[in-house]
Amino acid sequence: MKIAASILAADLTCLGAQIRECQAAGADWIHVDVMDGHFVPNITFGPVVVEAIRRATDLPLDVHLMISEPDRYVADFAQAGADILTVHVETSPHLHRLIQQIKALGKKAGVSLNPATSAACLGEILPEVDLVLVMLVNPGFAGQRMITGVIPKVRQLRRMLDEAQLSAELEVDGGINATTAPLLMAAGAEVFVAAHAIFQTREPIAAAIARLRQSVGALPLPDSAMSRSDLPVSPREC
Ligand code: DX5
Ligand code: ZN
Repeated sequence: MKIAASILAADLTCLGAQIRECQAAGADWIHVDVMDGHFVPNITFGPVVVEAIRRATDLPLDVHLMISEPDRYVADFAQAGADILTVHVETSPHLHRLIQQIKALGKKAGVSLNPATSAACLGEILPEVDLVLVMLVNPGFAGQRMITGVIPKVRQLRRMLDEAQLSAELEVDGGINATTAPLLMAAGAEVFVAAHAIFQTREPIAAAIARLRQSVGALPLPDSAMSRSDLPVSPREC
């Protein structure tokens, strides 16, 4: 299991400290949700923020572009320090060209599917990509509930990748917590994006990440599990 901590729900007044705390807690990637107020109904971070995050960590930066015309911006995000650039298939009629563009920038290329987009539309591009990101919620906001009807699509993509012996990583995003993560793990997901389940709990970031790993059996359960309400609110480093 890889955990990609999504800064969308972090305390942005001390973003550097929050990211360092994630790294110390064993997060595998930092997930950056880029939204343009056009493809999705929210506006978030641009290349300058990615550049600042790059200075705060050496973890891979998993940049999720929820923007129209991503071909106009991938070079800027690559220059800012992104390691993985994921674009939505719904935004790009010339997806093959865009994937090549990202690879030519020396970055890993990911493709993402909204909940209503079928896995079949990836058939031809699958051999070209490094990552497939399945949205479990309609993109735009952290803290939404997972749409359970998307789980069969995760299973289908796992099958498509395995049958074609492809090594692209299968990532899931939206509503991941200790209850939903095991369902996605069973469906074949490998990388789990989480915002609320890491940054908006009453426990420290390290405990929240450990809880996610324990939920899929990737870490043993602690001897005496404390209930969430017994735990202190996470102290801030800044
Ligand atoms: C949603 C974003 C997600 C979001 C996940 O549009 O792509 O990455 O941060 O948030 P949670 O984990 O709170 O559902
Ligand atoms: Zn995301």
